[in-house]
Amino acid sequence: MKEPGQGLYIVLISIHGLVRGKNLELGRDSDTGGQIKYVVELARALGKHPAVDRVDLITRRVIDRKVDPDYPEQHEVLSDKVTIVRLPCGPRRYLRKEVLWPHLDVFVDNVLKHLGSVARVPDIVHAHYADAGYVGSRMVQLLGVPLIFTGHSLGRVKKQRLQETGSKAAAIESQYNISQRIEAEEIALGNANLVITSTHQEVEEQYELYDNYQPRRMMVIPPGVEVERFHPLEAGKAKKAPIKSQLDRFLKHPERPIILAISRPDERKNIAALIQAFGEHSQLRELANLVIVAGNRDDISVMDKGSRAVLSGILELIDKYDLYGHIAYPKHHEPADVADLYRLAAQSKGVFVNPAYTEPFGLTLIEAAASGVPVVATHDGGPRDILGACKNGLLIDPLDTRDIPGALLKVLTDKSQWEQMSKNGLAGAHKHYTWDSHVKKYIGAVKNVLGNSRRVTDVTASRKNRLPTLDRLLICDIDNTLIGDQAAMQHLLNTIDRTNGKVGFGVATGRNIESTVKVLAEYNVPTPDLFITSVGSEIHYGHRMVEDTDWKKHINYLWKPAVIKELMNRFPGLKMQPATEQREFKISYNVNPDHLPPMREISAFLRQNDIHIKMVYSHQAFLDLMPMRATKGLAVRYIGMKWGILPERSLVAGDSGNDEEMLKGNTLGVVVGNYSKELAKLKDRDLIYFAQQPFARGIIEGIHYYSFLNDLFPPADDQGELQEWAVVDELSE
Ligand code: GLC
Ligand code: MG
Repeated sequence: MKEPGQGLYIVLISIHGLVRGKNLELGRDSDTGGQIKYVVELARALGKHPAVDRVDLITRRVIDRKVDPDYPEQHEVLSDKVTIVRLPCGPRRYLRKEVLWPHLDVFVDNVLKHLGSVARVPDIVHAHYADAGYVGSRMVQLLGVPLIFTGHSLGRVKKQRLQETGSKAAAIESQYNISQRIEAEEIALGNANLVITSTHQEVEEQYELYDNYQPRRMMVIPPGVEVERFHPLEAGKAKKAPIKSQLDRFLKHPERPIILAISRPDERKNIAALIQAFGEHSQLRELANLVIVAGNRDDISVMDKGSRAVLSGILELIDKYDLYGHIAYPKHHEPADVADLYRLAAQSKGVFVNPAYTEPFGLTLIEAAASGVPVVATHDGGPRDILGACKNGLLIDPLDTRDIPGALLKVLTDKSQWEQMSKNGLAGAHKHYTWDSHVKKYIGAVKNVLGNSRRVTDVTASRKNRLPTLDRLLICDIDNTLIGDQAAMQHLLNTIDRTNGKVGFGVATGRNIESTVKVLAEYNVPTPDLFITSVGSEIHYGHRMVEDTDWKKHINYLWKPAVIKELMNRFPGLKMQPATEQREFKISYNVNPDHLPPMREISAFLRQNDIHIKMVYSHQAFLDLMPMRATKGLAVRYIGMKWGILPERSLVAGDSGNDEEMLKGNTLGVVVGNYSKELAKLKDRDLIYFAQQPFARGIIEGIHYYSFLNDLFPPADDQGELQEWAVVDELSE
């Protein structure tokens, strides 16, 4: 649908936390931090690039009196090209990111609906963090556009760290839902055409932990610093910074150079080692003042355990080394004070220090550089890249107590080196770390990706009047769902028939098309409007059973059946199903569950071999492998898009694993009473109704539950229909 000459339409997805265009509440909670700042600034910066004509930053809509009234707003315009779009994702209230998982499928459908209202398919989807990685993957599987993924922080790394500090696996799981996060990251990495990271260390030491580690699809593009905010003092404009008087309250010699540390009160930031170094080093104490800005605090005793420990530790050390008059540690500061703090440090010929144990990126170092303060920083992660590029300071080993004071002294005492570092930092920040330079590289990479991945079909191009009167769909799995109770099925089909073509009827089955036709004839089922067969890998329409060849072209993506069969040979417990069940886009096995290794072992092995597919396990008896764009769920959405029927107008019914994807999301899902145990995990999901009754009775029960047909059979004025419905009620007793 893209007009020639039209610029890029970029969709950024960042779901959790509190996202808005101004006065970001960074640090308000652990979900509203660096990532939020990153995505808002990225969105703004992309909107300034001439190749871009629309950016939607899509996030979760929060309606909750405990948060500001900005977050229920559905649209927030940031510029003529850039909008924050907030869409529902689960309950209205603010939720921490760890509990969003069961709501993401609904969010996917809400995003697709939004795109429908824009009436344009994005050129690229860029997902931020694991949750959006899952959502973005589902979107691109359907839209056929490339995906960019940025993890921001990674579950496997977090898990390792928690384990190192003694947390038990079960505790990590219950608090952080870590395996769901890791699986979402694997999915995102498998679907992504490009992974953008901020540092080389992330690629080499963090993404490296994943089965889907493909460094050739990864690119390091550091984020930008806001150069409008972070800059040195303009000559002659020595306006007094409000924070200065706060600092002066603490200091005996306020004119001395400032050693500045800014970080969250987090033990891993290693502030204690800095104070200790300063306290034990008399030369340093006489030369400079130490300024510690570790968040805001009112009453330490009511803060969370981690912050409390760090802050009381700081106070204790100050007392122990008797640093009164030598160290400032203001209780409060405003966001605007931060830039002033760097400027004050620069003006005093001081130094910015970051002694953290680990520093994945280190945005503060770039802010310092852009403000003209030399830095002393941990040799872990981001600082290595930053100091390598800017040559604006010295790296230290945060665990070596002599290293910190040594480096600080070197920077503070060598005047000409100080000037050089200050100059280098300024130049380097502008050259490597502005959003303009980020976006320039970003757009180059996007063009590259778009050049390599032409979209074969436009899944949103609607078919002209194939079924003009349809306004909703009933889609049923066949075995153990539609068939199994002949009387109930007949009743169901008669009812659908009486809607005069308003309700389309489709089947969605694991069977191939020939055996589908056969079984439907055997059970006297009239020809459906729609056949989704071979677990969603094939679609046919109506009496003439016209095959949807666009669908085949669409799902034929990264599909290497010969390689897959070869790789699968090593696993015990699998036996190829008969040749009739092997289809162009479906490889099927019969399974002996006693011998089959766990599913995650199989998927890990395939991923390590750069194979990205859908694995569908049903009835503890069948395993189907298909291209990642196949499955019944995506087929249902594809048809809905073509015919202009939203998922919420489709009632889908099923009983087993291969139905899972079509049950999730905004479709009105019905699981019949006789379901297979692999679906039990969907209980408690929104919009998935578990019927009491088995087979078609369960479908009818679901139709009642959702009032799916009520408007078509108005009460009172049509006694005939009512009587018919009474029969249904009887059936579902
Ligand atoms: C049907 C198909 C079979 C598939 C199973 C589960 O039985 O015939 O190939 O494995 O459904 O999807
Ligand atoms: Mg079934």
